[in-house]
Amino acid sequence: MVCIRQATVEDLMEMQACNLFCLPENYQMKYYLYHILSWPQLLYVAEDYDGHIVGYVLAKMEEESSEPCHGHITSLAVLRTHRKLGLATKLMTAAQAAMESVFGAEYVSLHVRRSNRAAFNLYTSTLGYKIHDVEAKYYADGEDAYDMRKQLKGRQHHHHGHGHHHHHHHHGGGCCSGDSKAVVDAGNAGAGASTSGE
Ligand SMILES: CC(C)(COP(=O)(O)OP(=O)(O)OC[C@H]1O[C@@H](n2cnc3c(N)ncnc32)[C@H](O)[C@@H]1OP(=O)(O)O)[C@@H](O)C(=O)NCCC(=O)NCCS
Repeated sequence: MVCIRQATVEDLMEMQACNLFCLPENYQMKYYLYHILSWPQLLYVAEDYDGHIVGYVLAKMEEESSEPCHGHITSLAVLRTHRKLGLATKLMTAAQAAMESVFGAEYVSLHVRRSNRAAFNLYTSTLGYKIHDVEAKYYADGEDAYDMRKQLKGRQHHHHGHGHHHHHHHHGGGCCSGDSKAVVDAGNAGAGASTSGE
């Protein structure tokens, strides 16, 4: 049995190991710490019956005030032994829901390699992402990235003038755009509001 739960600081080493097994895009431990200190609600793990981490999603809020409030999937992976069981779908759904309910995100973005058929199918067929742009030679080895986006449900109604009382503002998270103080006040502070590169 595998359970999906929010990640803790104690999980970060195993998440990093899972990332190293699965992907060529790797990060220093301080980048994982930056995520969990800034947006603890947006990191989820898949934990096997024996307590081992077999999958993770590492996500964040984008903080440029020039853009609408939105989340970003930094990294997602599931160990080869545990694929095609729906774990990535559950990890992504959990992170997306928290972006919307805690931070009021309007949409979520991510990058995926042109050649990554498994991930592309997951994002398009299962999760409903659309290609927003193509970034030529985005990856270190020269491969192009699809810049993909998915609109989050709650906010679509906003554009039609409905409801100022969406449930997603009631969890004390505050939005990222121009309101990072609200996030700090909600107890999520630690790494500061500055963004670091990926
Ligand atoms: C991409 C990845 C995270 C998918 O994880 P997973 O837990 O196996 O995914 P799920 O079981 O939730 O699959 C959901 C959907 O994704 C698609 N999918 C997953 N694996 C696939 C594969 N090998 N080939 C084609 N489509 C695939 C299917 O549409 C699938 O739906 P279905 O089961 O109804 O056919 C996993 O393959 C992985 O870790 N790959 C290496 C790391 C990586 O590429 N990460 C994403 C970087 S952007």
